[in-house]
Amino acid sequence: MTDAATLIDRVIHERRTINNFLPEQPPVETIVAAIEAACWAPNHHQTEPWRFHLLGPKSIAAVVDLNAQLVTEAKGSVAGEAKRQRWSEVPGWLAVTCPRSQEDASRELEDYAACCCAIQNLSLFLWSRGIGVKWTTGAVTQHPDYFALLGLNSDEHLSVGLLWFGYPQTVPEQRRQSVDEVLTRLP
Ligand SMILES: Cc1cc2nc3c(=O)[nH]c(=O)nc-3n(C[C@H](O)[C@H](O)[C@H](O)COP(=O)(O)O)c2cc1C
Repeated sequence: MTDAATLIDRVIHERRTINNFLPEQPPVETIVAAIEAACWAPNHHQTEPWRFHLLGPKSIAAVVDLNAQLVTEAKGSVAGEAKRQRWSEVPGWLAVTCPRSQEDASRELEDYAACCCAIQNLSLFLWSRGIGVKWTTGAVTQHPDYFALLGLNSDEHLSVGLLWFGYPQTVPEQRRQSVDEVLTRLP
C-alpha cells in the first residue's frame, strides 16, 4: 500500500464520535477548510445540497437554552440544568441542513444522502488534523425554534445534523460487526 492509502485507512478506522472535548477552540480556518472538503462529497445531478451554519456565541447560547428548555419539559429542571451545563462546555458548533424537495421524494432522499456523505468528509478531514466531531440529531435539531434561529423554515429545509467539534478529551472505543455479518455474496 502507498503511504496515502495507509493514512486514509487509518483515518477511516480510527475516527470516533467524540463526547468530551478540551475547552480550546480549533482554528476557524481549519473548520472552513473542512467545509470546503465536505463539499467534494458525491451528489446526484450536482445539486450540492449541503448548507453549513457555523454558530457563534449568541447562536450557541440560544441552542443551549432551547435544549435545556426541552429537557426540562420532558424530564424536569435538574435534568434540564445538567444538560445546559454539559452543552455549555462544547467548544464548536456547526449545523448542517439540506433544502427539501417535497414534490420530488427521490431527490430529497438523494440530497439527504449527499449531505451525510459531506458530513463524513468533514469528520474525516478534521480527524486527520486532531479534531473530533459528534454528529447529533436530538429533539432540539427538529424543533421549529431551532430552524428559526438558523433563519430557516422546517417546511423548506431538513436538519441533517448538529455537529459538535473540538479537540478530544477522551476517545471512546467502538466495535463493528465483522464483514461476514454484513456481506452477502451473490452468484
Ligand atoms: C445520522 C446520525 C445521527 C446521530 N445522532 C446522534 C445523537 O443524536 N446522539 C449521539 O450521541 N450520537 C449520535 N450519532 C453518533 C453515533 O452515536 C455514533 O456514530 C455511533 O455510536 C458510532 O460511533 P463512532 O462514530 O465513534 O464509530 C449519530 C450518528 C449519525 C450517523
